[in-house]
This record gives sequence, structure tokens and C-alpha cells, in this order.
Amino acid sequence: ANAAALMSSPSSSPQRILSQDELKKIAAYKAVEFVESGMVLGLGTGSTAKHAIDRIGELLQQGKLANIVGIPTSTITHEQALSLGIPLSDLDNHPVLDLAIDGADEVDPDMNLVKGRGGSLLREKMIEGCCKKFVVIVDESKLVDYVGGSGLAMPVEIVPFCWKFTAHKLQSLFAEAGCDAKLRISPQNGKPYVTDNGNFIIDLYFKKDIGDLKAAGDAILRLAGVVEHGMFIDMATTLIVAGELGVTVWIG
Ligand code: 5RP
Repeated sequence: ANAAALMSSPSSSPQRILSQDELKKIAAYKAVEFVESGMVLGLGTGSTAKHAIDRIGELLQQGKLANIVGIPTSTITHEQALSLGIPLSDLDNHPVLDLAIDGADEVDPDMNLVKGRGGSLLREKMIEGCCKKFVVIVDESKLVDYVGGSGLAMPVEIVPFCWKFTAHKLQSLFAEAGCDAKLRISPQNGKPYVTDNGNFIIDLYFKKDIGDLKAAGDAILRLAGVVEHGMFIDMATTLIVAGELGVTVWIG
């Protein structure tokens, strides 16, 4: 479906329920409206961000955008952007970005995020932490009352060395929240999932609210085997949510 058409004529098919992917595409297209020629852009990872990158590529090809520099947050996004002819660079050459667009796995009422179920949390956090604006794009299923509230994983990237030891430490850290720590396994080969940085991912599942996110994040980062966690606290500046009733843009 054409997301631009879906957005501009909401009454064209009032009975049809939009698929999750169509909602993701609508949020992504809305975010691309923030992109201007000459910008240095953080390019996110995942099925929602993919729509935004496709749209940026399309606008470049149509001559409606020019002089964009993209900083990809994963090898898969790097490949997608290259295939679309988006000029690419990195943080070494562009340490300050104008704007980043990316999806999220969970968004709480304060616009704190869980990211990394797609495995790219480290590069996402490095790049999105350097942006003047960070636009998060989600369908409404990603909205939660609190971080961990979806019952799905909060990922932590760790070094492979003695991963069981680090997983045990992580689980113990959140024992009061009923935490279960599981090594992520690649569905492709049944082996541990390896990130773009050569690391493993431990997925944390919580039975209860973990409370103070900053304190939780700091405690995770104090463990020696940990590289980064998937809580993006106070980072999003704009949130675009696509739902059955339309698109909402929240400015943080
Ligand atoms: C990848 C991410 C993604 O942004 C997140 O998993 C959302 O993915 P999708 O847009 O496919 O639902 O953090 O590391």
C-alpha cells in the first residue's frame, strides 16, 4: 500500500483494518517529512526504519532531496542505503548529526524506549546519542505503561567471554523484578546470535516494573562483561505513532 496515499485520504477505505506493516510505513513516511536537503542523517534499523530509508532513497532519486549524508546503524541498513544510492559516512567523519529516524520495541509514557530486539542497539545508541533530533517511529502496539511492560525482551549486548557468568549477574541484579536472562539464539543457524560488533545478546524478561530506569541502566553498565543495554532513556525528541485512528506526533 502507498503510505502517502493512506495518510492523505484517511476516508478512502474506512472499513479496512490496516496491517501492522502499513502502520509502520505511515509513521515512517511522516518522519521523513522532517528531513531536509543537506542534512546528516542517522539511519535506523528494523522493519519500520526500513520504510523511512526507502522513502529517503525515493525522494533523492526524484530530486526532492539533495546532499544527504546517511550514517547507518547496522550492516543491514548500510547495505539497504547503499542499494538506494544514499551517500554514507560514519561518526568519525560526522560526529554531530542533524536528525535520526528509527523504530523501537517499546515506548513508555515518558518517551523512554527499549530497542535492540533487532540486535543493533549499540550502534543505534552511539549514533542516536549524537543527533540534534531523534525521531522515533512506531505503530501503536509498541506503546507500554512501563519499560519491560510488553513482557518481551529488554536486550543487553555483552562480550562472548564467559557469557553465562554475565547472564547470571544480570539475572541476579533484577531478582526482585522476577528477571529471566536468556542468551539470544539465531533462528538461522541455532547458534548464539552475534551482533555487528562480534558480541552476544542477553535478553532480559521482567515480571514486574524495574522502577528507576537510570539506576537500572547504570547498574547494568557497571558489570564488566556488559557492552550496552537497550534502554534509551531521555533520548527521543519526537515520537510518531501510527494507529487505526491516525498518526500522532509527540514532541518531547
Ligand atoms: C533494532 C531496533 C529496532 O528499531 C526495533 O527492534 C524495532 O524494530 P521494528 O521496526 O522491526 O519493529 O531496535 O535493533
